[in-house]
Amino acid sequence: MLLSVILIGLITSLILIYLLGINNERYWKKRGVKFHSKNKVTGVFWEFFTKQGAMFEKFGDLYKQYKGEPAVGIGSITTPALFILDPQNVQHVLQSDFNSFHHRGIEANEGDQLADNILFMNGPRWKLMRQSMTPLFTTAKLKNMYYIMDKSAQDFVTYLKEHPKLWEGDCFETLMTFCNAAVCGAIFGIGTESIFDSPFLGVARSVTAPSLKRNLTFTLMSAAPRVAKFLGLTLFRDVEDFLIGAMTNVIQHRKKENVKKHDFADLCINIQKNGTMKDPTSGTEIEPTYGILTAQAMFFLGAGVEPVATVIFSAFMELGRNPDILEQLHREIDENFEKHNGNITYDVIDGMEYTDKVLSEAMRINPPIGFLSRKCVKDTVLPVGNIKVESGTNMFTPIYDIHHDPDVYPEPHVFNPERFAKGNKHSDKFYMPFGLGNRMCIGERYAKLQMAAGLVHVLRHFTVKTKELKTAIKFKSHFVNVRPISADVLLIPRNIK
Ligand code: HEM
Ligand SMILES: *[C@@H]1O[C@H](CO)[C@@H](O)[C@H](O)[C@H]1NC(C)=O
Ligand SMILES: *[C@@H]1O[C@H](CO)[C@@H](O)[C@H](O)[C@H]1NC(C)=O
Ligand SMILES: *[C@@H]1O[C@H](CO)[C@@H](O)[C@H](O)[C@H]1NC(C)=O
Repeated sequence: MLLSVILIGLITSLILIYLLGINNERYWKKRGVKFHSKNKVTGVFWEFFTKQGAMFEKFGDLYKQYKGEPAVGIGSITTPALFILDPQNVQHVLQSDFNSFHHRGIEANEGDQLADNILFMNGPRWKLMRQSMTPLFTTAKLKNMYYIMDKSAQDFVTYLKEHPKLWEGDCFETLMTFCNAAVCGAIFGIGTESIFDSPFLGVARSVTAPSLKRNLTFTLMSAAPRVAKFLGLTLFRDVEDFLIGAMTNVIQHRKKENVKKHDFADLCINIQKNGTMKDPTSGTEIEPTYGILTAQAMFFLGAGVEPVATVIFSAFMELGRNPDILEQLHREIDENFEKHNGNITYDVIDGMEYTDKVLSEAMRINPPIGFLSRKCVKDTVLPVGNIKVESGTNMFTPIYDIHHDPDVYPEPHVFNPERFAKGNKHSDKFYMPFGLGNRMCIGERYAKLQMAAGLVHVLRHFTVKTKELKTAIKFKSHFVNVRPISADVLLIPRNIK
């Protein structure tokens, strides 16, 4: 009896899955779009779960397999989903047709307070929050903050010198500690001494660290937002109390101190003074509670640590393989340290062109975020291939694959900072480590300063050597990040005058 119930259940589900697959395939065939029929129901998401490697690599397989097609349909349970290949279509989705594609494509659950941040917000609430946070990232603010990033980098070098064990490997982890201290100092104004073992690092790490549950949550939220909502999945519940408590402390302490530091805590105080945040055009309102302000802070923390560490690490890894480039960079750094007596100000770092080229190329060859997602919110048509896209469709666009397309970047695996020489400017639509369009990264310039600060101070005192690791997997299994794990970086002290 029980057995036959189970059997019937099993057969029914198999039939259902089969029909779902047929339906997904028919949906795109009808629209004249190729469909990736390997996993008709769960598409490349299934491959992410059952095989090693990062999610962007699974999209990369599609990019290679369907090159020449404007886009390819993929299984995403019951939601129509498209992976875009043609760069003009990519630009259309991310930039030109903002009216149809302003949605991030991920829906956080209402109970997940900390997921209520700019990245996951949509519609008029997103617009209001983005406008309110923009003042934190103006040139004037960044100029004001830069000395803190520089100080963190100086302290980091001291810390490295005191701990020779750190020179011998696990360089990525070590760089995370620098990024955490810099973000805590510059954005949150926490501590005058840089702390490299702060409890915030644990949080920053746990926010992006892959766990089976987080992998599943992220994948479901992207592939089947309705299912994720139904299951009440949350991303950040485990760090909610700690972070809201800590942020509340920072803000209240600042109010009492009554000093201006021009950082995130100051911005929060100004926002709260103003009362309810309002967008007059849409009538949208957001109450600036500690919870919602902490949600923004948590995202800045997550974004300022792992992706920035990834860029510095990738730069080191490539420099350690390319001695000529490393030497040229050392020359620029030494010249500037000597000329300015080791006082590297905002203006000095801003004028270091070769450093900028090295970092730009590091983000070309290894963009920390490998692909982007959007959701169509208004029926539209993609220009190349004349593809009709219905409201509700999930869109995925490549970053890594465009950066590695030999038609766009000849010899894509070669590290060559001269790609970014003046007069060699690449069209924006082919270079997008920070995304594209109105939803592009708000922290781009902040991130570039922090990575430059770390890079120049470490390389003033150390040189780098790349240790290739014998591993079959090149990238960490991660849903959003691109983290190379096939090499490590060794630090070797330099003799400087
Ligand atoms: C190397 C470091 C970083 C990289 C590579 C990076 C990359 C990105 C990318 C690719 C996106 C998505 C853009 C799109 O959908 O078009 C994004 C969004 C975002 N980033 Fe960053 N980011 C970095 C650092 C930061 C930092 C330090 C902050 C803040 C302090 C930050 C804040 C944000 C925010 C708020 C969004 C959401 C924007 C929106 O949806 O309107 N990022 N970032
Ligand atoms: C998900 O997270 C775990 C960490 O617990 C990791 O080992 C695994 O490779 C990740 N990826 C997948 C597809 O499960
Ligand atoms: C506070 O409100 C004023 C007047 O509406 C506005 O100009 C200002 O930008 C607001 N400040 C913040 C931090 O939102
Ligand atoms: C570095 O230069 C800036 C601007 O010229 C100056 O304000 C600052 O005091 C200098 N710092 C040191 C340590 O010399």
